[in-house]
Amino acid sequence: MGYTDIILSKKAKVATITFNRPEVLNALRPKTWEELEDAIKRSEVDNDIQVLVLTGAGDKAFVAGADISVMAQEEGYVGSLVVVPRMQRVTCAIEDCRKPVIARINGYALGGGTEIALSCDIRVASDKAILGLPEIKLGIIPGAGGTQRLSRLVGEGKAKELIFTGDHISAQEAHSIGLVNHVVYQADLDAKVDELCQKITSKGSVALQMAKEAINQGIQTDMKTALAIEAHCFSLCYGTEDKAEGTKAFMEKRKPIFKGR
Ligand code: CAA
Repeated sequence: MGYTDIILSKKAKVATITFNRPEVLNALRPKTWEELEDAIKRSEVDNDIQVLVLTGAGDKAFVAGADISVMAQEEGYVGSLVVVPRMQRVTCAIEDCRKPVIARINGYALGGGTEIALSCDIRVASDKAILGLPEIKLGIIPGAGGTQRLSRLVGEGKAKELIFTGDHISAQEAHSIGLVNHVVYQADLDAKVDELCQKITSKGSVALQMAKEAINQGIQTDMKTALAIEAHCFSLCYGTEDKAEGTKAFMEKRKPIFKGR
């Protein structure tokens, strides 16, 4: 699939997917969602890639949400039959991706933009970023997982306040409620994301996948079941070459070289 709305680039085990419609602050039209899904799936099966980074073109926006000019044309039934299934399928593809996904939030992340960031594993924001779920101001609610992922991440009370008011919040406030992991000066955004990518890509891909799966599956269930999931994921790591290498390297006082096996 050729892309027009996104750019997919690869460098040093990192795939970067850039939303690329800066003239509309990288708003998401149906084609953007389809391209994003394709790029996620391609990067997931690419053995040279260990981490994915999502970001926006330009210095103003990550993603300013769904393309409102498209939404304005759509009939009601399209919402339930097409729009929501598509958005939820793609945000789940990000969440379920076997590789860590980092949101590099370089500006406005509103509506679907915040929802995409919420489906990523780690969020790093520039100090100029603005986040929020303003759908209520359009007479709708978040439909790409925002009502569920935001409340799980920051708690029900804060999520309800943000969704009921549709307020935009600064990167600093997003950090204070746990919505983003890091806030850095815009000029330092690449360095911070690169630092995280380097740390993660130096680890074994099986262990990364199992850690993500244990957390993602476990958080949705009761503690006993969650511990059983953790035990299963731990056991799968225990038989790997990477575990043999990691423990051997420690004993030999050297850095491990993981092969993802
Ligand atoms: N859809 C379509 N076009 C958009 C857009 C969007 N979500 N966001 C911005 N644009 C367009 C503007 O219409 C404008 O185009 P023109 O130059 O042709 O007029 C261009 O991008 C630049 O935007 P602004 O002039 O508005 O820039 P600003 O700095 O004054 O304001 C903003 C920036 C506060 C982000 C403002 O653009 C805005 O409020 N955008 C809409 C944000 C929003 O409501 N997002 C949620 C959408 S609903 C959703 O996402 C549902 C879901 O669950 C997925």
